[in-house]
Amino acid sequence: MKFFIDTANIDEIKKGIDMGLVDGVTTNPTLLSKEKKDPNQVIKEIMSIVSGPVSLEVISKDREGMCKEARQLAGLGENAVIKIPMTEEGIKAVRILSQEGIKTNVTLVFQPIQALIAAKAGATYVSPFIGRLDDISSRGMGIIEDITIIFNNYGFETEIIVASIRNPIHVLDAALLGADIATIPFNVLKQLISHPLTDIGLERFLKDWGSIQR
Ligand code: G3P
Repeated sequence: MKFFIDTANIDEIKKGIDMGLVDGVTTNPTLLSKEKKDPNQVIKEIMSIVSGPVSLEVISKDREGMCKEARQLAGLGENAVIKIPMTEEGIKAVRILSQEGIKTNVTLVFQPIQALIAAKAGATYVSPFIGRLDDISSRGMGIIEDITIIFNNYGFETEIIVASIRNPIHVLDAALLGADIATIPFNVLKQLISHPLTDIGLERFLKDWGSIQR
């Protein structure tokens, strides 16, 4: 299972790399807007420090505009993956880009048949947003189960990125389902490593060791 970090914050990406937990990065316009810097500069910096796949999202709504942006973004590096929204125009763009050998990540997926359509169009990745489904009292992880079955039924190579992750249980459930990738915010990434009983246990070991030192 690969861990991507879901952020456009350079400091978080560097810390995640240092922890050995960054197999790739996903960004979106909201994450880039939080950085309050020139987004093109931020994107260039991310590309310069990450060797794994980096998802960069288009903002055009029409096929031609999306493809134009995608070709420019793809020129930033071999590891650039172009995030395309799950719309009619988006799917047309994915089909064209996949024929051109440009990697795509179909985003804003909320039901399994959207993922099937994206895979049929040649998407490299699909990103179902499970947290946002949980937010509206719909079982987000349910669509990961369904998409996994559908992709296995037909042997699609499209990888599933479990996105909109809000807590470590989401990562656990994704792993239990055998999801290819979880894209994880930095605060959740840190939570994955720690457990209070680990801290208490370590403190006790060191205290006991100290008591037998002369
Ligand atoms: O990768 C998708 C993610 O950034 C969306 O997360 O928390 O805005 O639903 P969230």
